[in-house]
Amino acid sequence: MTDTTIARASPNVRYGSNAGQPLTRRDGLLKVTGAARYAADNHPDGMLHAVYAASTVARGRVVHLDVEAAKAHPGVVEVITPANRPALMKHPDEKSEPFGFRIEVLQDDRVRYANQPVALVIADTLEAATEGARLLAPRYEAEPPRIGLDAERYTPDAVGIGTPAAIRHGDIDAGLASAARRIEASYETPPQYHNAMEPHAIVAHWDGDRLTLDTPNQAPVMMRAGFAEFFGIPAENVLIRTPFLGGGFGSKAILAGPQILCCLAARMLDRPVKLVLTRAQMYGPVGHRGQTRQHLDLGVDADGRLTALAHHTIAATSSFEEFIEPASSASRTLYASPAIAATHEAARNDIGTPGPMRAPGEATGSAALEVALDEAAEACGMDPLDFRLRNYAEVEPITGRPYSSKALRDCYARGAERFGWADRPLAPRQMRDEAGLLVGWGMGTASFPAIMFQAEAHAVLRGDGTGAMRTSAADMGQGAWTSLAQIAADSLGLDIDRVDFHAGSSDLPDAGVAGGSGHTATAGAAIDAAGGDAIARLADLATSDPSSPLFGAGNAGVVARGGRLHRRDDDSRSESYADILARAGLAEVEGRGRASRDPAAAEQYAMQAHGAVFAEVKVDPDLGQMRVTRLVGAFAAGRIVNPRLVLSQLYGGMIWGVSFALHEAAIVDRRSGRVMNADLGEYHVPVNADVPSLDALLVHEDDPHVNALGIKGVGEIGITGTAGAVANALWHATGTRVRRFPARLEDLV
Ligand code: MOS
Repeated sequence: MTDTTIARASPNVRYGSNAGQPLTRRDGLLKVTGAARYAADNHPDGMLHAVYAASTVARGRVVHLDVEAAKAHPGVVEVITPANRPALMKHPDEKSEPFGFRIEVLQDDRVRYANQPVALVIADTLEAATEGARLLAPRYEAEPPRIGLDAERYTPDAVGIGTPAAIRHGDIDAGLASAARRIEASYETPPQYHNAMEPHAIVAHWDGDRLTLDTPNQAPVMMRAGFAEFFGIPAENVLIRTPFLGGGFGSKAILAGPQILCCLAARMLDRPVKLVLTRAQMYGPVGHRGQTRQHLDLGVDADGRLTALAHHTIAATSSFEEFIEPASSASRTLYASPAIAATHEAARNDIGTPGPMRAPGEATGSAALEVALDEAAEACGMDPLDFRLRNYAEVEPITGRPYSSKALRDCYARGAERFGWADRPLAPRQMRDEAGLLVGWGMGTASFPAIMFQAEAHAVLRGDGTGAMRTSAADMGQGAWTSLAQIAADSLGLDIDRVDFHAGSSDLPDAGVAGGSGHTATAGAAIDAAGGDAIARLADLATSDPSSPLFGAGNAGVVARGGRLHRRDDDSRSESYADILARAGLAEVEGRGRASRDPAAAEQYAMQAHGAVFAEVKVDPDLGQMRVTRLVGAFAAGRIVNPRLVLSQLYGGMIWGVSFALHEAAIVDRRSGRVMNADLGEYHVPVNADVPSLDALLVHEDDPHVNALGIKGVGEIGITGTAGAVANALWHATGTRVRRFPARLEDLV
């Protein structure tokens, strides 16, 4: 299915006997049989339960808590409020690192958003803690909340995590003035919530000044520091165990107030404490995707070439912290235009701070951009795919850098062919099915940066012919441990069954963050380097030993395969790892590896994964009821480590794209500032019946520059382009433009 020849960092390893195979998830059996132990499944001896009272107003002060009533309830051990909260070593108003936000840990009586913790009750049982929290019956002095994008606007310096808020290239005004046609429209996207299956949970356990945490976390080592600084202990004193995550989507990469409160309670009471957020409580202190309104202003010349592309986003942030959905960033990198402006504004709202969620910026930005492109194609009387090809960026717009690799043209061609795009009528409302439903076809371009963070790994080759690999990598459920174990096995020249793969704990070498679609690339490259280092040590032993058949071959003259080193110039001359180690009198050799983006390559090349998504929808012409019936995506993302898991990721992303287009929205009551649909019954996500026939094609792409393994990452790209493709298909079915997400039937009839 995939080609496995590619330049590699480690000269001794032949890549591909494990990687490239469509292995099933190694943790799958544990999960489907219920044997997997998630954070909330932990019950250390003497453990207490913590439940917090969550604010029912979005702005104001807590003026009364019935602490006596809560304390009088049988089983309640302690109540923590701002009045008795023990001191923290770090003021929560200071930002935490990494990805740290100012957080709410009962530092005062202010209410800054609905569902903010206002007091914590600790009890012998979950039931007693829950009842204690209810008995607190908070009373508020409420103020009218600021909700929506017209509230308190300002211009930030940065959006997302460190992206400049305004990027301007070329002369937009001149580009628009010279255009033969101008397409201008505004698009709206709602607040969305991560809604991982597994709610945020934490079990905190102190032993002196050492803190052990069972909590799902996307970045176990990096996150230690965030906890440690609140308690004035070294980061090494914090152990985060995160063997299984029931999804993260960005929300488990950010430190949240309830986690610190749980640690505080455990220290105060000198007992282990467990805190599990209810589903409703996940709509507040643990991040979300902020609401946006995006204005697109496009100029197009007589040949259908962009003369200007201006993308301005207004996004909501909280009153006390800044995370601005970097939606306009989607327009920086995708289409060629002599003038591009990607700018942002923020609106201060009385909401929990937004954060990174499922392709932050790219998902929202591409939803708007891809519809705007479709509107431009329509204005030019052009096929939407032809229009995109006309504006294909051969080099990165704005910087003019070449791409490290870019097989987007192949994605367009293969996706279009698989979908049957050539038969699409240009005009809308031309197709009906046998039941009389309107049928529409639309497409969008998918794009996501190929990010790398920093990671380390530690390898061991043992005298019994087995190996081990250690790195803190978190598996959010996407199969990271399987793909990474495949890379580990290849890097050690062993079958995957002979490699112990240790991950998911902060006492292992730092694998960085499972986020930004960069985890396999980053942790994988570190693993590859560690395995290569161990093999190099073994090769040194063998090639310098006159009694080895490999003597004199030189380190680069041997290759590792199947637990043996072979001479490159004579494959029949080989020696097993066990024999090499035994003769050297060693029980094992170790290897260490680390990886990050090569700065020279980062400067020289634009690095981006790409894809093309084609959607078919059917719309009831009388009722406006809409369905996605077919979705084809073709993606080029460098090396495919595990095609089964990669397809899974892409399917998942495309389903989230359908969700974005048709389902997901948090409905915020403007009077109370509360999310009215804070549960999975009313916060709609696609269920099986909503998911169409899905087809994802993997387009071959060799990338010698992104990292030693040529991996770009596939975690988020599936959602990009898909919402736009669905919206464009809705237009093609009905002739009505969708400019707000999710599309509602009242918009179409
Ligand atoms: Mo993700 S939103 O990069 O965890």
